Amino acid sequence: MTEADLGFVHRFRPASVDRAATLLMLHGTGGDERDLLPLAQMLDPQAAVLSPRGKVLEQGMPRFFRRLSEGVFDEDDLRRRTFELADFVQAAADHYGIDPGRIVAAGFSNGANIAASLLLLKPGVLSGAILFRAMVPLVPDPMPPVSDTPVFLSNGRHDPLIPADQTERLAALLRRAGATVTLAWQDAGHELTRPDVELAREWLSVLA
Ligand code: MLT
Repeated sequence: MTEADLGFVHRFRPASVDRAATLLMLHGTGGDERDLLPLAQMLDPQAAVLSPRGKVLEQGMPRFFRRLSEGVFDEDDLRRRTFELADFVQAAADHYGIDPGRIVAAGFSNGANIAASLLLLKPGVLSGAILFRAMVPLVPDPMPPVSDTPVFLSNGRHDPLIPADQTERLAALLRRAGATVTLAWQDAGHELTRPDVELAREWLSVLA
């Protein structure tokens, strides 16, 4: 089977120890499948890594779903792309022989938004998620049972793209769906900082 058969251009790195979790790395706008490999290494050097490239192009920049303008999402496309990504994750789990019950997403910005959408629209695909600079992707009706899924949400107090109430609304939405949310505020903007990564690594080490 080729990469194309799995539906997304991607990188896969097997775990270096038995029974390690798999990190599903989801890049931000303009990134690609290589972008977050160093971040995966910092979060858990022993984990398997599955890192797809978003299929939507915005002026040549890969993303995971279409937006109508900054922070305004094309919800139909988001739903479709979320299901497509869920299918990829399941196909990759079969193909690479990874435990489908131990897949933790780690996404940045647009990648964090589709990870949040995966949690809300396809509960059970992810066993946890690290969301860096995420906003509310959509509000499902009815609310899904995201029972007890651990989520680490880390946003910047000075992020010009994500007002504080977006972060609070996302945390509340995930909690309402049943997720166990750890919210970490950084003295930062939209960019990822060392404390983001260190806190996420600690959170993940307790989870693993
Ligand atoms: C981005 O630049 O990717 C946005 O802030 C988030 C998104 O569009 O999903």
